[in-house]
Amino acid sequence: MATVISIINLKGGVGKTTITVALAEFMTLLHQRKTLVVDLDPQTNATMALMNEYEWKRRNVRGQTVVQLFRDRLQQHRPVFNPEEAIVHQVSNIGGGIPGLDLLPSSLDLIDLQDNLAGIATSGIISDRPLTILGESLAEVAAAYDLVLIDCPPNLGIITQNGLLFSQYFLIPVIPDILSTYGIPQIVSRVRRLAAETGVEIKPLGVVINKCRHQSALHRTQYHVLSMDADRVGYSRVFDTILPESTQAAAAMDFSVAYPSLHGKYGYKAPYLQYHQLAEEVLRYVR
Ligand SMILES: Nc1ncnc2c1ncn2[C@@H]1O[C@H](COP(=O)(O)OP(=O)(O)OP(=O)(O)O)[C@@H](O)[C@H]1O
Ligand SMILES: [Mg+2]
Repeated sequence: MATVISIINLKGGVGKTTITVALAEFMTLLHQRKTLVVDLDPQTNATMALMNEYEWKRRNVRGQTVVQLFRDRLQQHRPVFNPEEAIVHQVSNIGGGIPGLDLLPSSLDLIDLQDNLAGIATSGIISDRPLTILGESLAEVAAAYDLVLIDCPPNLGIITQNGLLFSQYFLIPVIPDILSTYGIPQIVSRVRRLAAETGVEIKPLGVVINKCRHQSALHRTQYHVLSMDADRVGYSRVFDTILPESTQAAAAMDFSVAYPSLHGKYGYKAPYLQYHQLAEEVLRYVR
């Protein structure tokens, strides 16, 4: 069975997608982990970072995205979603695609669908809430992977809860400033409650600091506060790896630029060294 990790934060723009994409690439290329990225965010950022937009459009009209997986459950028709067809193989702008790195793309249509799912959810009874749709649809295909990374939208709605209930772990990226770290206790307690209500174990993998500016006194202070709070709040740890603010990390999300290698995309120093270290650290904690 694959190790499944949801990358979550209520706060937008903290680097969930950037970290998901880089981790997937490093895990596949440096650690030979067959990896599936599941894009659960209607913004489709991970999708656009990993595959060609025109190819995505073609698949989107055919229902070959994660949306169809949820739609099948809402509509009383014969299931259309076929994970074998929807999963895109050998994605990324490194080397024309990385063997062993696959993607289940997202779609903008997920926004409307989320509202429909929420309608079902208002019944309130946990067994009636559509929280296991993703897990039930993907369990079989996920068995073929070593690692599944789920890029979540910046909320803890029904779609994200589907991701969490399919995961053994959740990882919280943060920018070490006041607003980005503010919601962390709420995230941890909400995941804990979800786990308790459903009897599923979802372990906190930790907090990973992103876009750090070492010269910023605020960033240094927030790093220490986060480190000290890990046990009390219950997110296990702050990763030793600190991801610096880096234009190369931001530029890496542009799929239209082709790179020959991990070094071509991420350089030799930052952010290459930090992503390299982050992948090793993740493997240390999930093994
Ligand atoms: N280490 C970094 N240094 C500089 N820019 C970064 C870094 N990591 C991410 N970014 C940039 O910050 C922005 C937000 O990153 P990203 O899209 O990964 O965040 P997110 O948490 O997934 O956002 P959302 O909540 O909207 O999904 C992007 O423009 C990205 O390129
Ligand atoms: Mg994102």
